[in-house]
Amino acid sequence: MGSNLGTYNYGEFSNNADELERLKRQAKVAWSIEEGYLAAHGLKDGITVADLACGPGIISGLIKSEICPASKVIGVELNESLLALARTLTADKEDPPEFRAGDVYQLDCLEDESIDFAYCRFLLQHLAEPARALQTVYRKLKPGGRVAILETDDSLFSFMPAIADMDRFIETAIAAQDRLGGDRKIGRKLAGLLWENNFTDSLTQIVTINTEMMDGNEFLNITTSFKLELIPEDEMNWARACIDNARKAIKSGAYFGQAGVYMVSASRPNPAG
Ligand SMILES: C[S@@+](CC[C@H](N)C(=O)[O-])C[C@H]1O[C@@H](n2cnc3c(N)ncnc32)[C@H](O)[C@@H]1O
Repeated sequence: MGSNLGTYNYGEFSNNADELERLKRQAKVAWSIEEGYLAAHGLKDGITVADLACGPGIISGLIKSEICPASKVIGVELNESLLALARTLTADKEDPPEFRAGDVYQLDCLEDESIDFAYCRFLLQHLAEPARALQTVYRKLKPGGRVAILETDDSLFSFMPAIADMDRFIETAIAAQDRLGGDRKIGRKLAGLLWENNFTDSLTQIVTINTEMMDGNEFLNITTSFKLELIPEDEMNWARACIDNARKAIKSGAYFGQAGVYMVSASRPNPAG
């Protein structure tokens, strides 16, 4: 296992504990907004749900406890450390999600036509072949089942008044992930990817978060720490200076930061109507 992890390799970050903390904080901060979007895209109690590439399982746990207590909720993850963490972090829950080892390109851990709602949260930007992953998801969905995708699009990121080198920082992270086979601007492409892979009835929503909605440092951590991991070593000095300047701007109070994600869902057609 492990060879298809694309541009996200937990265990190889400069500080894995910090990255885990970022995932946890990001999931918790986003949840109050995200749960309403998930419901609008078809998630409801009583159906069979797969959280694909569930990472440490925070979102799988919230789906199970907050929206789908009567559902079977299955978290699937390829990285063995994250899979173990998902099991540990939900061990004290009365009725935790089930966690299974699986590669989204194969999903042998799920029966064909067994899933009503599949969620791919911050997965496809990391994959060299997102279309191939979607074809596998299609096979695992029941006819009429739905996939929902939450993904980044860095063109929605801005920080005003302008911080020196912030645009360069974003573009350098985009280019680095692109070189590794990922795509930090995948959000806008999702509906097209779904049509090309035989899904129908797509629904696209753009969701933005900004510094009026949360603490400015929290915003900066959630939106820039993974990007910082992407910056080549010989460019680290100016990149770190840029983030330090953003922190100073936050402290002064005179700034507005915004980041955005796409929530896109579509159905596997049901020939029986
Ligand atoms: C940015 S993390 C997102 C984790 C979680 N979905 C969340 O939003 O907190 C990307 C996840 O995709 C997983 N992943 C990458 N390639 C995968 C693959 N081929 N099959 C299954 N999981 C994969 C990584 O191990 C990681 O847990």
